[in-house]
Amino acid sequence: MNKRKIAIVFGTRPEAIKMAPVINELKKHQNIFETIVIVTAQHREMLDQVLEVFDVIPDYDLNIMKKNQSLSNITTEVLKGIESIYIEEQPDMVLVHGDTTTSFSAALAAYYLQIPIGHVEAGLRTYDKYFPFPEEANRQLIDNLSDLFFVPTEATKQNLLNESKNESRIIVTGNTAIDAILYTKEVERSHQVLDLMDSMPKQKWILLTMHRRENYGKPMSNVFEAVRDLIDSYEDVEIIMPVHLSPIVQSVAKEVLGNHSRIHLVAPLEVDVFHHVIARSHIVLTDSGGLQEEAPALDIPVLVLRDKTERPEGLEAGTLKIVGTEKENVVKHVKLLIEDSGKYNQMAAAENPYGDGKASYKIIKEIEDYFSE
Ligand code: UD1
Ligand code: UDP
Repeated sequence: MNKRKIAIVFGTRPEAIKMAPVINELKKHQNIFETIVIVTAQHREMLDQVLEVFDVIPDYDLNIMKKNQSLSNITTEVLKGIESIYIEEQPDMVLVHGDTTTSFSAALAAYYLQIPIGHVEAGLRTYDKYFPFPEEANRQLIDNLSDLFFVPTEATKQNLLNESKNESRIIVTGNTAIDAILYTKEVERSHQVLDLMDSMPKQKWILLTMHRRENYGKPMSNVFEAVRDLIDSYEDVEIIMPVHLSPIVQSVAKEVLGNHSRIHLVAPLEVDVFHHVIARSHIVLTDSGGLQEEAPALDIPVLVLRDKTERPEGLEAGTLKIVGTEKENVVKHVKLLIEDSGKYNQMAAAENPYGDGKASYKIIKEIEDYFSE
């Protein structure tokens, strides 16, 4: 087989975490693949943190991030910046991840140049275009443009079959988040947040993250108020929240959760440190997508701060529970997990449905087969 050039495009923290294992696997196959890494830097600081942990050096960096950027702005900046790179590099395939606006725009630009597209973490659906927003539309649009679909689970494969996608192009790989976590688990880290958690081992640590656009405003403040109520009900509970750099999240978090000795608001953590924080936590409270995959892999129950999830496998396995963003409901479910050890143990013992950590290897093998056909 001639050497093939694969361009990997991403721009935000979660894409970087889930694409880094794919890049590192591609680099193990340098005899058959040339790898070009293009970052849009839809996120700047939060992206750079991940690149450093996984030792990834981008070949191109569009550096598009703006404070409070709009979705149209991200889309147009990526389209404008990436076309000339594709034309210059002439990749044989473009790989994008998941559902961000970077991924959608990078896929659209590839499609316009008729470059084959591989979609990593394809097939996730809620079938409600505003939950999550704009991710549900982004991922459906990307799947409509893609040629190869790397789906994490059988359920996500079924979504694509229901949409009449070609079965021979859908490959169940597991989620590359698990590949990433198996790597970071092995790396010893010292960090002041880990020291803080270790200094109070008897306390129950609740890890909180929240950032989704559809939760801006009332849903986010409801949840933070619920947390503020909860912390006063339990002397043995501590909250640790790495606060997303979105100015909207920053301001609500500080306003509602600031100035409490057992609520620890910290800057976004390097991913290896963060994975060790998950492992030390009692409960994860989040609206994040990635955390719904990672926490179960570390046997930590997740209460999902959304009304819908595109990760039904986790619900079925019993490792996730949807609790929405109404204050009373959030309080009720956290209390239940704190007070009912049977319920807690059941969730913690549920099996992680997101794979065995070999997703990247399966993806690369499939790309090899695609080109040798
Ligand atoms: C984006 C993705 C979302 C993903 C999330 C992961 C879209 C539309 N949204 O949402 O799918 O779940 O990333 O976190 O693609 N900022 C910084 N520094 C950073 C990162 C962000 O200052 O390193 C600030 C900027 O002011 C930026 C704002 O955060 O404008 C929001 O970032 P943006 O990428 O637009 O939205 P996210 O909510 O992060
Ligand atoms: N994460 C991190 N540092 C943090 C918080 C999260 O590295 O301080 C990682 C986390 O392990 C997961 C990813 O970021 O892999 C999730 O990102 P986010 O919640 O921003 O996006 P989503 O998964 O919802 O798209």
